[in-house]
Amino acid sequence: MSEEELTEFNSFNKAEQATLKSPINENIDDKVSHETSLKPSNQLKAGLLGWYAAASSNAIKAGDIYHFSMYNEPLVLYRDKDSIVKCIKDLCPHRGASFIDGQIKQGELVCPYHGARYSSQGECTNLDRITCSHIVDTNYDNYAKKIHLSQYPCVEKNGYIYIYYTGKSKTNLNEFEIKEPLENTLAESYGFKTSEYEFEEVTVDFKADWARIIENHLDILHIFWVHGDTIPDKDVSKNVITSFDQSIKRESRQIQSKYNHKDKNKGEFITIKFIPPGRVVIYKGEEETSRYVQVLDHVPLAENRARVIVRHYRRFMKNKLFTRIFLFKNLQHQVFYKVFSEDYMILKTQTFNQQMGYVEKDNVKLLGEDKMVQYYWDWLNNALSKENPWDLHPTNEHTNAVHKDMRMLYPPENPKLAIQNKRTIIFKVARRILIPIILILLFV
Ligand code: FES
Ligand SMILES: [Fe+2]
Repeated sequence: MSEEELTEFNSFNKAEQATLKSPINENIDDKVSHETSLKPSNQLKAGLLGWYAAASSNAIKAGDIYHFSMYNEPLVLYRDKDSIVKCIKDLCPHRGASFIDGQIKQGELVCPYHGARYSSQGECTNLDRITCSHIVDTNYDNYAKKIHLSQYPCVEKNGYIYIYYTGKSKTNLNEFEIKEPLENTLAESYGFKTSEYEFEEVTVDFKADWARIIENHLDILHIFWVHGDTIPDKDVSKNVITSFDQSIKRESRQIQSKYNHKDKNKGEFITIKFIPPGRVVIYKGEEETSRYVQVLDHVPLAENRARVIVRHYRRFMKNKLFTRIFLFKNLQHQVFYKVFSEDYMILKTQTFNQQMGYVEKDNVKLLGEDKMVQYYWDWLNNALSKENPWDLHPTNEHTNAVHKDMRMLYPPENPKLAIQNKRTIIFKVARRILIPIILILLFV
């Protein structure tokens, strides 16, 4: 693909920001916005409507109904009889019930209200009568033909469930006009050979603005300050002064920022890619050979509600027995949960400030190292001005909130999972220490 690129080199010193005395680059906001408006070729092609990694394959179990939402619109994922994942609007076309507490029978979705049953094509199968058998509807077959589930295109690939979200579900999937190919979203099409890695994965829920969470994951600056004590890297700490050179570029498919240590012996620190509308990839080195790749997918559940699927791919610690012995998965999850908890209050309050209109140009001043964030907001504002998904399913203060909190399944909003994970670690470690001690005592 021929892409006109804008590459800029930016240099900054962590020491300056750590002391909070760095000179504020007051021009960056104007400068970057200006460039963007003058050069549309520097804009990312994809807008906010398009392909989203909406769930991990692991979360969609045969026989279960997975509830989530996109931009306030409640949706359902389930596996049909051939294990193919379907994305359905959470609305029964008989009388408008949700599929919450519904069932999957032989791979068919069954409504909890009157038992309407739908094939994987979304047709009422007429196998179970909607009404009880004593209610006679002579025109039943004709009626059943008319009702049909409304859907979105859905593809399962590389362990993710991708949906093509337009905000307007359809009964006939062939009627969707797919503007951007799914390939533009896949990490693999950027050179990552994910099949060569093992990965750990968690899903986390936030009561915060979706876009603010993406911004957080594009923000190198806060990593040292907020996560410095948690991330096991001696170069990432509140107390370590680190200097970087930044090279940042905007292409039609991605924004990419590469950070190199100023100390040439240390080389690259990290590279961050934003792949619209909801994916962030963080890695070190070349895409093809990186030892470690982090992929974060952001699902805009509703206003003030977002889900993040975090996957850490690694080329090391690939031996399954070895990782099991060292409780690698549980320990990794503990780190993930802690990192996201550290961000949580900041994201919630920053969301509030944004909604109150406080995060305006005159109130905030971006630093040179915020350029990635600035480019992201350029894209977002441009995308919102063209097609704003939040306008498609608006809610207000009178809207029943039944769906909102039900979706907050994962930490940090639901801390039970993190506590449970911690208990599992303690239990397994205790068992491994105690059992040999007991055995030794018995023999002595
Ligand atoms: S509302 Fe679903 S079967 Fe009646
Ligand atoms: Fe963070």
